[in-house]
Amino acid sequence: MRTRPLKVALLGCGVVGSEVARIMTTHADDLTARIGAPVELAGVAVRRPSKVREGIDPALVTTDATALLKRGDIDVVIEVIGGIEPARTLITTAFENGASVVSANKALLAQDGAALHAAAEQHGLDLYYEAAVAGAIPLVRPMRESLAGDKINRVMGIVNGTTNFILDKMDSTGAGYQEALDEATALGYAEADPTADVEGYDAAAKAAILAGIAFHTRVRLDDVYREGMTEVSSADFASAKRMGCTIKLLAILERAADGQSVTARVHPAMIPLTHPLASVREAYNAVFVEAEAAGRLMFYGPGAGGSPTASAVLGDLVAVCRNKLAEATGPGESAYTQLPVSAMGEVVTRYHISLDVADKPGVLAQVATTFAEHGVSIDTVRQQGKDGEASLVVVTHRAPDAALSGTVEALRKLDTVRGVASIMRVEGE
Ligand code: HSE
Repeated sequence: MRTRPLKVALLGCGVVGSEVARIMTTHADDLTARIGAPVELAGVAVRRPSKVREGIDPALVTTDATALLKRGDIDVVIEVIGGIEPARTLITTAFENGASVVSANKALLAQDGAALHAAAEQHGLDLYYEAAVAGAIPLVRPMRESLAGDKINRVMGIVNGTTNFILDKMDSTGAGYQEALDEATALGYAEADPTADVEGYDAAAKAAILAGIAFHTRVRLDDVYREGMTEVSSADFASAKRMGCTIKLLAILERAADGQSVTARVHPAMIPLTHPLASVREAYNAVFVEAEAAGRLMFYGPGAGGSPTASAVLGDLVAVCRNKLAEATGPGESAYTQLPVSAMGEVVTRYHISLDVADKPGVLAQVATTFAEHGVSIDTVRQQGKDGEASLVVVTHRAPDAALSGTVEALRKLDTVRGVASIMRVEGE
């Protein structure tokens, strides 16, 4: 066994970084045995050096991340800072200085993954990022490596724990969105500003990364259609229950039936209670992968938090260190198919539409005609009337999203339609 240690620079020492450092220290012997050489924490770059960091030698702590990367002896950089800058520049500096990189940075990978992969390849180094998607759940490596011989056609997942916690609370207690969000905040699941989670940005970044891997094509954050879940109401859950469904914020990545394009989207959707994703409770994540030869696979586990995310980072660290010792690299970007990413209008799915209408003769016929005029076939209609007003719930057969949008626009213009209370896609059937 090699005795000269592999030197690791840790960029960021928050919830995840401090856990990575702790496990590197407490499991040092196991890591050494698994890698075939000792790994040494050579420096820890932080913003606030005065903060007490238990278990970390203060002599390793620096505020000058660039100098740490440029000192010339760093083998592997672990980036757990998050955000675009300075993380992007620091990762590039790491590659320029001969270090492979393990990153948990979904936003950066979703925005600039191609350029970072190119930089890694140019320098003959690794870029690993298991922790960027769904925390501890092994997903990137199984999709990049274990399924490399198969053809993935569809990925559908719950990749944001905060929103799953909120939706699960709304489902199980009948709470409204705000009440459930308040509980998520009190328990530390939601951040003080929950926008990135509840508006679907976090899930969209993960969706872009997964779509790129699944379809061997380049998918950026801007290619992902995104709708948040702040408008989901208790009434939507009541409707979902009547249909034997629940509501989840889903990331859905699909290869078109002709195989010539892909779609990537994040939005709330009804799914049947019999679907495996319906049973994913609290802040857990789960991803359902459909591959041609393998069939249906489900990956489940904690998608966030210090320890779970550190587990994924350390798995990557071991792999990258092994590659370094073997003077090899692991898989890089695979984007050879170069499939176009289609607009949301081309996605084909089912819809649940709730309308407030006047309760008088001919209204139902008028509504049904509007659907027919836009080529959207109705599956079921449920009406409940009271004092001259009625609520009408229409569930459609599969139709293109553009056709549904056209239908809704036309419905809004009807005098007899007082309002469109909610539109929700129905998935997983
Ligand atoms: N905020 C994310 C979540 C975890 O709730 O799942 C980090 O991506």
